[in-house]
Amino acid sequence: MKKLCLLGLFVSLASHQVLAATTPPPLENKDAFISNLIGQMTLEEKIGQLRLISIGPEMPRELIRKEIAAGNIGGTFNSITRPENRPMQDAAMRSRLKIPMFFAYDVIHGHRTIFPIPLALASSWDMDAIGLSGRIAAKEAAADSLDITFAPMVDISRDPRWGRTSEGFGEDTYLVSRIAGVMVKAFQGSGANAADSIMASVKHFALYGAVEGGRDYNVVDMSPVKMYQDYLPPYRAAIDAGAGGVMVALNSINGVPATANTWLMNDLLRKEWGFKGLAVSDHGAIFELIKHGVAADGREAAKLAIKAGIHMSMNDTLYGKELPGLLKSGDIQQSDIDNAVRAVLDAKYDMGLFKDPYLRIGKAEDDPVDTYADSRLHRAEARDVARRSLVLLKNQNDTLPLKKGAKIALVGPLAKAPIDMMGSWAAAGKPAQSVTLFDGMNNALSDKSTLIYARGANITSDKKVLDYLNFLNFDAPEVVDDPRPANVLIDEAVKAAKDADVVVAAVGESRGMSHESSSRTDLNIPENQRELIRALKATGKPLVLVLMNGRPLTILEEKEQADAILETWFSGTEGGNAIADVLFGDYNPSGKLPITIPRSVGQIPTYYNHLTIGRPFTPGKPGNYTSQYFDDTTGPLYPFGYGLSYTQFSLSDMALSSTTLNKTGKLDASVTVKNTGKRDGETVVQLYIQDVAGSMIRPIKELKNFQKVMLKAGEQKVVHFSISEDDLKFYNTQLKYAAEPGKFNVQIGLDSEDVTQQSFELL
Ligand code: NOJ
Repeated sequence: MKKLCLLGLFVSLASHQVLAATTPPPLENKDAFISNLIGQMTLEEKIGQLRLISIGPEMPRELIRKEIAAGNIGGTFNSITRPENRPMQDAAMRSRLKIPMFFAYDVIHGHRTIFPIPLALASSWDMDAIGLSGRIAAKEAAADSLDITFAPMVDISRDPRWGRTSEGFGEDTYLVSRIAGVMVKAFQGSGANAADSIMASVKHFALYGAVEGGRDYNVVDMSPVKMYQDYLPPYRAAIDAGAGGVMVALNSINGVPATANTWLMNDLLRKEWGFKGLAVSDHGAIFELIKHGVAADGREAAKLAIKAGIHMSMNDTLYGKELPGLLKSGDIQQSDIDNAVRAVLDAKYDMGLFKDPYLRIGKAEDDPVDTYADSRLHRAEARDVARRSLVLLKNQNDTLPLKKGAKIALVGPLAKAPIDMMGSWAAAGKPAQSVTLFDGMNNALSDKSTLIYARGANITSDKKVLDYLNFLNFDAPEVVDDPRPANVLIDEAVKAAKDADVVVAAVGESRGMSHESSSRTDLNIPENQRELIRALKATGKPLVLVLMNGRPLTILEEKEQADAILETWFSGTEGGNAIADVLFGDYNPSGKLPITIPRSVGQIPTYYNHLTIGRPFTPGKPGNYTSQYFDDTTGPLYPFGYGLSYTQFSLSDMALSSTTLNKTGKLDASVTVKNTGKRDGETVVQLYIQDVAGSMIRPIKELKNFQKVMLKAGEQKVVHFSISEDDLKFYNTQLKYAAEPGKFNVQIGLDSEDVTQQSFELL
């Protein structure tokens, strides 16, 4: 009997092997297809698939192709055209197993057409506009042979000293989570395997925005409740929306670097959240485990990373060097390597590359004649999205909109700044194709002679800062000074101002000031530009500040000096036209701040939804023995959710459908919003909820929903929000996600501070 069984087993194994050699499983059967492939791979070929390399202009292409043909590279990033990538895919097709390559890139806010930076996109609070920007980015990137992007970046940022604040969608968990889902769906379209889609890999997992002091690459030390409640939901939302990949953060979390963090990567991401996709390290992060001081050497670093399930290693060689030895010594198992290889192959499968390795590369004869042709851009969409992202902060005496017949002095270092207009991480955007503010205003005017331009100031007069900003661009520096002395520049601008009816000053940061590795201790507009603003103010002419910056700036003094302030962030290829649309009133601004603007750096953090405190400061009362700073006014300069329009809106008749809510029921919160002004316009009605008394301290309020509504002049509308138990749930001290019975305050407003309130009880 036993013999027979063994024989049976032998027979079935043998026939399976024969079958496998002759008929590989059909492509449709993903798991079997990939298993079969893994079964044929040598260890070297497996490790090759885990290698993700950056293609630089200096790299010998022939050598790369040789490596690919030998099965030593799984994917590349930074090579971004069809003619560049086709020969690499050809090389992969010459490799023994013909496993296709994938081509990745940081498509963050547009590919060839640059949309506003993510912080600006969030300022639109317009999910359709944000989705459109992501869809177009995906289409353009796919048309350039790209398969996957390292985006969206959904790190909650509550410390604007952090330069990468520009790349995220702001401070609020709910808003960022909504956008995370929208962006993933926009990138992946009808599926990551579609020819006009790219796979999304959400980043930086996790908590990168909470680095201590806003210092890039630093440590994060955070309570589990805060993580679960405030920082993790956006990544989860991206994954729930189907993100195929995750990029692992460079920071440590409670003492363990994310790249070696088995709790983060295995317990949370995979077991708790059910993520089955690809995990990619950030640049050189496996090697940095040595620098973090958790790995004694490269061998240990590779072991920690593979054990944490970091599938692909971005631009370091440790997996290649160390995995074979680790396997031989039994420090890691074959399954550790095979799991990583499977994730890479699964992702390639999901991108549609096994079916057609040239899905996005296409045929040479179909390549665009000019990859950079303007006709490949989506200018109209970029302009519309950009103008939706602009936030009007101040507009005293209806200084804006400007009259087209008026004489306008346009000054400031950012008025003619095509590179800065695109913002950081501007993918394949070409500065020559971006519309500056000067161009945009000129385009809007039939009589061009009414626009007088003077530079007025350089970005900075601090040589050290300038060198820092130009560190990577010695050949063609990004920030180019006007060599004339500061007073000469200012005098010229003052003269222009005196000759004009109104002054528009484009001031703020160069894009490199709000970028990776661009943390600041001081969030003022650079001092030499402030001198310019003071001189312009002294002319007595109405002063409009057009701010360009990648993070909130402390504009306390400028708020007093300016008659109008338009926060434009960095608004992309069509930025100049979009800003001109708002300045001249061809578009009525509707953006709202997705992040609080502090009065000073000393106040940070200033996020609106902080926990309730025992001794809160009460405005108008003495501050002694309350939680505040005695040397400055308490509260932000501009609150979260704030933004003006050229028309006015009023809220009235807030009502709740009931004063109680059952656990399974729904409650309707409504408010009448009326456009009481003279122009049509859009505003964002925001719903906040406060859990008044819980088993643990709850935030003073939390955004739970919003609606962007368009109203004609004089029109009114009742806006409804449905509230259910789900909206009241939170992670308690046991990390249990549940709502607790009791009183809840519901607040509705047009920003986070100016709200009307009603209450109900959860039964
Ligand atoms: C490092 C950055 O942290 C990450 O966001 C980016 O995707 C990679 N470099 C690749 O460019």
